[in-house]
Amino acid sequence: MKLTIDSFEEYKKIYDYSVSNPEAFWAEIAENFQWRKKWDTVVKWNFKEPNIRWFDGATLNITENCLDRHLDTIGDRPAIIWEPNDPEESHRVLTYKQLHEKVCQFANVLKNNGAKKGDRICIYMPMVPELAIAVLACARIGAIHSVVFGGFSAQSIADRIQDAGCTLVITADGGFRGTKEIPLKSVIDDALVQCHTVQKVIVLTRSRTPVSMIKGRDVWWEDELKKVETMGNPPCPAEEMAAEDELFILYTSGSTGKPKGVVHTCAGYMVYTGYTFANVFNYQPGEIYFCTADIGWITGHSYIVYGPLSQGATSLMFEGIPTWPDAGRFWDIVQKYQVNILYTAPTAIRSLMSFGLEPLEGKDLSSLKKLGSVGEPINEEAWHWYDEHIGKRKCPIVDTWWQTENGGIMISPIANVTPTKPGYATLPLPGVQPVIVDENGNEIAGNGVSGNLCIKFPWPGMLRTTYGDHERCRTTYFATYPDMYFTGDGCLRDEDGYYRITGRVDDVLNVSGHRIGTAEVENAINMHSSVVESAVVGYPHDIKGQGVYAFVVCPELHDDADLTRKDIVMTVSRIIGPIAKPDKIQFVSGLPKTRSGKIMRRILRKIAEGDTSNLGDTTTLLDPAVVEEIKAGAL
Ligand code: WTA
Repeated sequence: MKLTIDSFEEYKKIYDYSVSNPEAFWAEIAENFQWRKKWDTVVKWNFKEPNIRWFDGATLNITENCLDRHLDTIGDRPAIIWEPNDPEESHRVLTYKQLHEKVCQFANVLKNNGAKKGDRICIYMPMVPELAIAVLACARIGAIHSVVFGGFSAQSIADRIQDAGCTLVITADGGFRGTKEIPLKSVIDDALVQCHTVQKVIVLTRSRTPVSMIKGRDVWWEDELKKVETMGNPPCPAEEMAAEDELFILYTSGSTGKPKGVVHTCAGYMVYTGYTFANVFNYQPGEIYFCTADIGWITGHSYIVYGPLSQGATSLMFEGIPTWPDAGRFWDIVQKYQVNILYTAPTAIRSLMSFGLEPLEGKDLSSLKKLGSVGEPINEEAWHWYDEHIGKRKCPIVDTWWQTENGGIMISPIANVTPTKPGYATLPLPGVQPVIVDENGNEIAGNGVSGNLCIKFPWPGMLRTTYGDHERCRTTYFATYPDMYFTGDGCLRDEDGYYRITGRVDDVLNVSGHRIGTAEVENAINMHSSVVESAVVGYPHDIKGQGVYAFVVCPELHDDADLTRKDIVMTVSRIIGPIAKPDKIQFVSGLPKTRSGKIMRRILRKIAEGDTSNLGDTTTLLDPAVVEEIKAGAL
């Protein structure tokens, strides 16, 4: 079977086939990839433990699919186009041949530095081509990468390095984002004070920020490359990986505790990202595809690196931010490279909308053919602006719903195939079986219904475990409702059977498309010496989607409230990173609690939303007076 679907009729037929015959369907999809050895079984699974195995018995290396297999056919086609933060700096283009060579070289650097199959390697880098090269080089030798987004603090990095037991770190001296310079190596140095498993740090030169290089531990990327060159650039054959060998770990927030390491494995992830990329974007050979995400998040893993490259696409990588030097930057990039497909986030669209139409003036966007959205629900106003001013009403918008745990897109239009509807992720891709359930886990059948979104059959890109803690994986995703994967999202299915994702139903916030656990932010706030207790909820924010609202109990607070607020913000920045900073901090004398001591977040959410007319039942509160006080002081 060919990988892509060309008409809505065909979609319906193939969807039905994928449900009635999932194994045959996925086996046919998998035939479109390159295997060292084919599978014995397509899928073996139970959601109880859970135990999920796709393409068992097969062997492969994902980099052979992303690089080697293209060399003879499209070796001279650009694989990666890189646009630097500063528009005055030259851009870079790496063809498939060049990328292959660089990945092999750096894979040899990793080997020379003691890395081997199964080792965990932490990558903390700016958005430069070397980040993609580092990721692919790990995959080439079978090392498990754990990319940490450049906006996380030293403490967050240390937690992730310790949890995964990383032995090697790849970083850069520093990175650029707009007018800011991020001292990446210095942050790594702070993190490593607590990490005793790390033996080597490889440092790329990017910003020429002064760094301290520790003898015996820290080496320069460029020096190590020279050593490989002196060895005569030996080839680096790809490690033969079993289908279920681990490919990477990516940490993500949940409603409780520290972020968990979502584990993806080689074969299923490769098939799923390649299949979804080819279909959702209806990718045609030669098209220039621009995904504005950072490789530090799952969108960058799946749809800047692995998905596009396995399909021989040209993937544009951008180091900077949408609003620097001005709010026309994305449009300059579209014009400069004649971008055909743009995949971005609602928060970016809303932020650019707020600058009006002036930044669009004189920008040639006529190359655009398809638009995508990801990361959070897209409000109708942003959808229409995107459609009208960017797509000029001639580009389909694919609103792609999925999660870190899913590996790839689950519910989404297929460009030029599925009729779209503003605000709707529309229909599941073939191979994806969503169900809507009520609180008790009963399936709500039919159309015109809403509830919690679950998936009842495995798909190749799903997570296999949470690193080092399988029980946490079971309780988080597979125990809420028996025999189903629980997404944590609420949704509705309209009269046409179209899905609209309404947002998280657990204590996870989505701030500018970044997943942030309220418990994590509370723990960080509580580390401040004058804080006794806190509760964090989300509230609607025009640009970010959700903002972070913190209710904080600080008994010793006198007249320096503003300074304490700043101190708390600084504490959260230090512990988690600037992305989790509270937007609003309200000091309160106590939190609304039930007699059993549980914080009634429902009430706090209402107050944060500015809707205090009906707070619902407050009779179970220990001290109802506290609610009046909080209402009166709401920000
Ligand atoms: C939300 C990002 C509505 C959702 C790929 C999900 C969306 C969480 C959409 C996962 C969408 C993502 N419409 N909501 N198109 N895409 N979400 O793990 O709440 O960073 O559970 O993965 O983002 O965020 P994550």
